[in-house]
Amino acid sequence: MSSHAEQKKSAVTLSRLAKMKQAGEKFACLTAYDASFTALLESAGVEVILVGDSLGIVVQGRDTTVPVTIEEIIYHTQCVARARENALLMADMPFMSYATPEQAIENAARLMREGGAQMVKLEGASIQVETVRQLTARGIPVCAHIGLQPQLIHKLGGYKVQGRDADAARAMVSDAIALQEAGADILLLECVPAPLAEEITQQLTIPVIGIGAGSGTDGQILVLYDMLDITAGRKPSFVRNFMADASDLSTALRDYVAAVKDGSFPGPEHSFD
Ligand code: KIV
Repeated sequence: MSSHAEQKKSAVTLSRLAKMKQAGEKFACLTAYDASFTALLESAGVEVILVGDSLGIVVQGRDTTVPVTIEEIIYHTQCVARARENALLMADMPFMSYATPEQAIENAARLMREGGAQMVKLEGASIQVETVRQLTARGIPVCAHIGLQPQLIHKLGGYKVQGRDADAARAMVSDAIALQEAGADILLLECVPAPLAEEITQQLTIPVIGIGAGSGTDGQILVLYDMLDITAGRKPSFVRNFMADASDLSTALRDYVAAVKDGSFPGPEHSFD
């Protein structure tokens, strides 16, 4: 078998993630912004790599993700794509790059064509249903990000847990279903009470990735520099520092993948009730 065929055989695809969900097998995701870290993530067996707009904070030193541009995400996606082997490569659509379905189609195509992304992620609940429908109808794989949406920080006034009261929880369940029905391939839940995230994960047939959403989702994601304890300043309470017990970066990354897969991360101390 040629090395190209071998690589194809072990490539992480959407259908493989869907099969893992059906089999109850957890998958590990992390952000990356450059080629060197991407190679380490690949060696550790990370299944999904996200070029997140968190790069605005952890790479560029900004206060929020709002100023990040499509050109910046394309540049970092190109850097990651050069070192990617088997992980599924997802790129974030930055603030206002998908304000209309037409704009979303144009910018998602740029992330895939110029950046090398295999799927795009966008924040937004019911307001993005039509955009998700139009993107996926054109063959653009989409991860819909709901719960805490960091691009709404100036509206929200802080990074707060979402879906805590009964009305908000019900709305989140129906948004998740509507996004799945519109064609979303993956749902991402950020800062959501663990029981609600588990309920949504069980109701959906598509894989659900959680961050600060408890251990009941199909996959987990963290900002790479947070879990390696590189990020300056305060880190979210749902982050575990995987460098604390590791002698090097590779060990920390492998420990993260193992902890996601055996369900030991996130524990109750890294989740919300
Ligand atoms: O931008 C990012 O890194 C993200 C993760 C926090 C999920 O959206």
